[in-house]
Amino acid sequence: MSNQREQWGSKLGFILAASGSAVGIGNIWKYPHMAGQNGGAAFTVVYLVCILVVGLSIVIAEFVIGRRTQLSPVGAFETLAPKTNWKWLGFLGVASAFVILSFYGVVGGWIMKYVVISVTGGFKELAGDPDSAGNVFNNFITGTWSPIFFQVIFMTVCIWVIVNGVKGGIEKWSKIMMPLIIILLGMLAVRGMTLPGGMEGISFLFKPRFEDLTASSVVLALGHSFFTLSLGMGTMITYGSYLGRKQNLLNSALWVITLDTAIAMLAGVAIFTTVFALGANPAEGPGLIFVVLPSVFPQLDAGTLWGTLFFFLLFMAALTSAISILEVVTAYFIDQKGWTRKKATIRFGLVITIVGAFCSFSLGGGINITAFLGMSFFDFMDYLSSKYMLPIGGMLTAIFILKKWGVNQFMDELKSGMNKMTISKNLITILLGIAASIVGFIILIEIFDVLFGIKLIQ
Ligand code: PFF
Repeated sequence: MSNQREQWGSKLGFILAASGSAVGIGNIWKYPHMAGQNGGAAFTVVYLVCILVVGLSIVIAEFVIGRRTQLSPVGAFETLAPKTNWKWLGFLGVASAFVILSFYGVVGGWIMKYVVISVTGGFKELAGDPDSAGNVFNNFITGTWSPIFFQVIFMTVCIWVIVNGVKGGIEKWSKIMMPLIIILLGMLAVRGMTLPGGMEGISFLFKPRFEDLTASSVVLALGHSFFTLSLGMGTMITYGSYLGRKQNLLNSALWVITLDTAIAMLAGVAIFTTVFALGANPAEGPGLIFVVLPSVFPQLDAGTLWGTLFFFLLFMAALTSAISILEVVTAYFIDQKGWTRKKATIRFGLVITIVGAFCSFSLGGGINITAFLGMSFFDFMDYLSSKYMLPIGGMLTAIFILKKWGVNQFMDELKSGMNKMTISKNLITILLGIAASIVGFIILIEIFDVLFGIKLIQ
């Protein structure tokens, strides 16, 4: 089966697809408001350390496992550790993909709705009035059918891209959308910085406020470094499995983390400069994108254009990430069950859309199937994946290499394609060890808190 496996068409195509997976709602929505609320540059420094120490080593680890086995996670772990329980780590990845895409697809739908509202001039009546913008947003997401309608369109586009294959679908669209995202975000950042008062937004985002940085901000930064780099569920294993041996994996991983981080910062600049220039509330938190920005854009010259460009670029970022999540599920059914790409994608795209509809209903549309933990089903799926599934998946991947597969075998595969670049075996061992220990510790803190109400750190 592996010799007919589809491959990426070019080195650049792979880097853009992998960074397309990384760059998503996490960068443009989550990072700016997290940094804004948790100490600005103080948070950003912690986040960068997490990306460099934990993120980089796990991105490399996933690429190596994927390319070595030419298989998606379940098959990959089964091949490297036959007849052991390690294959369950692959299944954890497939399960995480289900969980994440169910709520991610709903947010993708919201973004599409906001493209439509903006393009039809709907933000105009919200100018300078975040309260009305908040009402519009709440009425929309707590509705029953309207959010589902947009979620279904978003998921249909996602399914369509994947059905067209690795090269003809995922790579082709990543090569179009990633440069567009960077250009549009760059334009919005320049626009923001040149507005009177805009530069105050930069000092809000980049001036360290250590008094706002708590231990839980550190936990948040670590969890987010997994989410933003799409780690811990085999996405990068799956994308790595379509690679040939000439690709330089270290170089590719450095590109992915650099692009991901640069785009998150650029999004922060574009958003906060605009928010400050127009005197809106920067500490709005999660409502920043759907509540504050719609009331801010119409106050700019050509505001309809700027608002539409922003939501359109957010849509593209969400789409390139969503396709990478669905590809994990699709690749499992192709590799392990011998299904065709079309059958696997359509069937499971549909199942995830249905689970996602329940996420949406739980926000007020009528049905909330999780009464425990005091969260909506939507929040529960987000919580379960970012706080547990991805970190546990990432930690076990590091442990797998250190304890089961062996760093020597790992280095053997990593070196292929690296030409003159080198990285020491000891450094890799130390980084993977640190990654596994930090993540293990953080998960423990979370479990103690939830199960026993004991806060190991404040
Ligand atoms: N990295 C994406 C973001 O920042 O929005 C989210 C994501 C994509 C998480 C793919 C996990 C994944 F496998």
